[in-house]
Amino acid sequence: MATPRPTPDLRVESGAESRRSSTDRRRRPGLVGPIAALLVGLALTGCVGEPPEVTVDDPELVAGRSVYASSCASCHGSSGGGGSGTRLADGAVVEAYPDIGDQITLVREGRGRMPSYGGRLSEDQIRAVVRYTREVL
Ligand code: HEC
Repeated sequence: MATPRPTPDLRVESGAESRRSSTDRRRRPGLVGPIAALLVGLALTGCVGEPPEVTVDDPELVAGRSVYASSCASCHGSSGGGGSGTRLADGAVVEAYPDIGDQITLVREGRGRMPSYGGRLSEDQIRAVVRYTREVL
């Protein structure tokens, strides 16, 4: 009569034990934390995040930033670091186009896999986004 009792107790315990150890197994590699931190870091550094804020009081640059976010970041990277498009950040465009007019012409007319924006953006928007890539990225 006393024999059946320990058996259900044991079953409950072993059930709890196996639940606990499967939790331990999930935690053991210790990679979930670092991977999550890496993804957050990538988002913050701009690989999958927002283009850098304009820190000066200049409405044209602010407008350029929003054009950049909607029209350019998908190929050139949200911080201009490059992707399927070339790297624009850190002065790359100023070096390639010492005269801003040449860069405006490139964006207006396109080249190779770089689309032409003459029909999609106004001259003001093109000038604004070009200034943003030169002065902010
Ligand atoms: C569909 C992808 C794509 C989009 C969207 C795109 N670009 Fe490009 N861009 C490219 C590629 C690819 C090149 C390299 C073209 C080549 O082969 O010469 C390029 C080149 C450039 C260059 C020349 C860089 C150099 O060193 O000569 C500039 C400047 C530029 N893009 C600016 C922009 C701007 C500003 C926008 C948004 C208005 C934009 N791009 C949107 C793909 C893109």
